[in-house]
Amino acid sequence: MRDLRISVMDHCNFRCPYCMPETTYHEQYRFLDPQERLSFDEIERVARIAAGLGVTKLRLTGGEPLLRPGLPGLVTRLTHIPGIEDIALTTNGVLLPRHAADLRAAGLSRVTISLDSLDPVRFARMSGGRAKLDQVLDGIASATAQDFPGGVKINTVLQRSVNEADALSLVRHFRHTGIVLRFIEYMDVGNRNGWMLDDVVPSRELHDRIAALWPLEPLSPNHRGEVARRYRFLDGAGEIGFVSAVTAPFCGDCSRARLSSDGRFYTCLFATTGTDLRAVLRADAPPEVTESRLHALLSGVWRNRTDRYSEERASPPPHGHREKVEMHYIGG
Ligand code: GTP
Ligand code: 5AD
Ligand code: SF4
Repeated sequence: MRDLRISVMDHCNFRCPYCMPETTYHEQYRFLDPQERLSFDEIERVARIAAGLGVTKLRLTGGEPLLRPGLPGLVTRLTHIPGIEDIALTTNGVLLPRHAADLRAAGLSRVTISLDSLDPVRFARMSGGRAKLDQVLDGIASATAQDFPGGVKINTVLQRSVNEADALSLVRHFRHTGIVLRFIEYMDVGNRNGWMLDDVVPSRELHDRIAALWPLEPLSPNHRGEVARRYRFLDGAGEIGFVSAVTAPFCGDCSRARLSSDGRFYTCLFATTGTDLRAVLRADAPPEVTESRLHALLSGVWRNRTDRYSEERASPPPHGHREKVEMHYIGG
């Protein structure tokens, strides 16, 4: 376990059809109450235990993490945990102009922004009509202006016949900017996006389309188990990446644990059940007892994990096509 991904907020200000379709997440949908979400104290305690077990990277996700009030305060607390070397944020970008400077001052290492299209109409459709493209572009600009030590990345999910035509314009837009664009194969996360294999644009195909215009050369991974395969443009315009979770699963090297906004611990993005840490955190027990309980739980659950869903996707239930946790609870 090297990487803990913490969802600080189940709510989102977008309604991307592949993640939180409006039909399910409408006005009456009941998100968590504030007291059902882990407090910053509780998140910090779990992160400390995880760091003690070998975690060096933290990623704050959602839903939309910037909807959580006071997030820079959490970042500062996390920077003080011994062993934590890297704290990243995954966001849709809309609230970054308001928070980027505070996040940088708090010690955030880097920012990843999701952006699926540079076409205003398609962008609106893909974010569920809740935001304008220019707001995300402003968010990206405010992040780059802060000069985060680990830089800025863009995540793009491509869906066949929906936004595959956007791929090349995104590449063109982010070449020469120092921003690393990564294409993520559309996945069957959660149970509500109506995923079909035919909707996936395989990384190989996309790579070849891009390389035909701008020749590419593979780069070696930054670290073992890195999710994205990295390439550089031969003309020196920068780097791009491909996350090929469907066509080239990377379960074998996976070192990512996940903490949901309501305090469940998951050992896979496609898990069906998690381990309830909130009950342990809120039990009436002395702090050192709680700590040793959490330590035993995390290490036991991690040691016994057998997750390899992306490799099992094509097999019949119970391995393939099962009831999975929703993406907005565990943050991707
Ligand atoms: P860095 O490379 O360190 O920036 O982090 P990262 O690769 O973890 O980046 P990010 O968190 O942005 O992950 C990119 C995307 O890859 C996520 O949004 C997920 O959609 C997908 N992803 C991340 N981890 C997993 C995983 O364990 N399994 C699968 N199938 N997909 C994953
Ligand atoms: N497949 C692939 N990526 C997804 N994301 C959300 N849902 C999916 C899906 N079904 C991405 C978001 C964001 C990151 C957190 O995960 O676009 O970049
Ligand atoms: Fe919100 Fe991210 Fe899900 Fe889109 S992918 S609905 S931005 S949590």
